[in-house]
Amino acid sequence: MCALKRTDNQECLKITLDFNNLMAESAQREGIKEEEIREAAERSRRIAQDIKERRAKGLLPFMDLPYQKEMVKDIKRYARAVRGKFTDLVVLAIGGSALGGITLHNALHPAFYNLFTPRQRKGYPRIFFADNIDPDGFKGLLNLLDMRKTLFNVISKSGETAETMAQFLIIRELLLKKLGPKRYKEHFLITTDAESGWLRKICRSEGLADFIVPQGVGGRFSVFTPVGLLPAALTGIDCEGLLSGARSMDKFCKKGEIWKNPASMLATALYLLDVKRGKKMVVMMPYCDALKDLAYWFRQLWAESLGKRRDIGPTPINALGVTDQHSQLQLYMEGPLDKVIIFIAVKQYHEILSIPKAYPALEGIRYLGNHALNELIEVERMATEYSLTKNRRVNCTITLPELNAFTLGQLLYLLETATVFAGALYQVNPFDQPGVEEGKKYTYGIMGRKGYEEKRREIKQGGRRLKRYIM
Ligand code: PA5
Repeated sequence: MCALKRTDNQECLKITLDFNNLMAESAQREGIKEEEIREAAERSRRIAQDIKERRAKGLLPFMDLPYQKEMVKDIKRYARAVRGKFTDLVVLAIGGSALGGITLHNALHPAFYNLFTPRQRKGYPRIFFADNIDPDGFKGLLNLLDMRKTLFNVISKSGETAETMAQFLIIRELLLKKLGPKRYKEHFLITTDAESGWLRKICRSEGLADFIVPQGVGGRFSVFTPVGLLPAALTGIDCEGLLSGARSMDKFCKKGEIWKNPASMLATALYLLDVKRGKKMVVMMPYCDALKDLAYWFRQLWAESLGKRRDIGPTPINALGVTDQHSQLQLYMEGPLDKVIIFIAVKQYHEILSIPKAYPALEGIRYLGNHALNELIEVERMATEYSLTKNRRVNCTITLPELNAFTLGQLLYLLETATVFAGALYQVNPFDQPGVEEGKKYTYGIMGRKGYEEKRREIKQGGRRLKRYIM
């Protein structure tokens, strides 16, 4: 086993999008014809121009986040000030307020980071994301913690999400009991809107440390704000590298010419495949454990941003290579021709792990010897890609030369910008989520929140179940 030397040359670190297998030359009638891209090019150019104008007016603030150097300085200053004070960092957040942070943590910390000794973690705390309210799960986490040495980063843009607020109330009570009314405050770090929301009110009245979710940046586009960057910085992740990668991708994603703009090309290709070839599902399949959560992050980004009308809404699916070759691949290979697969490949893993040579008489095992796991995983990805293409199953590959903060920054920015292009192509607003809000209102009604009595009445009447349909 040996650790590979990382490259510092940013030019060599550009991620690539290979969409050969989305095209008719590879995938025959299931693929896109080049003339269809040529026809779409003018529309893409207009969308790029519109994005540029909206951005100049400050209407797409997430796109300028990679340039917010002061924000990173503040985050790093805070992280430095609390370094060594806490053994554990717990993020209380859900949805877009959690998924970016989870993605950064799993992508950029070594595998099994939380099992490392404090010394191996270089004094940085363990990190946990409490993004659900399963009482067993949450209590299980609490049982692991020493409250006197734990920092709780409560993240909620609206400052009223029931799940996060319920967790906050539980933790606040525990801290008050354990540490008293003065010292409990040192264990909270709030990330919320600058002005609005109940959490902001609490933060002000109780004097809790806080960071701001910038105006106009929704949860799923917030990975480059304190929402994603603060937990990252508190555990030693290179935030500048992430933003620098995002800035380098921005240069390409700004271009009006579709053949030079990977965000525009990816969005256009996925859109055409959906509306013209019936590919209603988008599977993201990283061949890298550390990027498993990227597929969950993308799933939310694509689903919540684009699923807005009965006739519109590509369904994103998360998968993991090679693991899910043994779970979902049969369906993708021979089932309905309704999916596009986005492979995420990593050219150079951090480790090389050789497979020993043994059992010369057992051909079914012998052949593995003298190869490396690195080779096996890439060969399996290529073999899967080839077989899918041969079966006219459209797919493309985004390759990271290596996984680090810079390349991850590029990838996240590419996918966010592609989502904005896709929103324009599908003619939906990618920044709202009225369907999610609707469900929240019924929860408030049932839980007895004032102002939501009508919702409570409605669900009580409408939610009746017939006994004969329960077995
Ligand atoms: O992407 C989104 O906007 C949602 O997933 C929200 O992030 C999620 O509902 C949590 O909201 P909030 O940050 O207001 O607690």
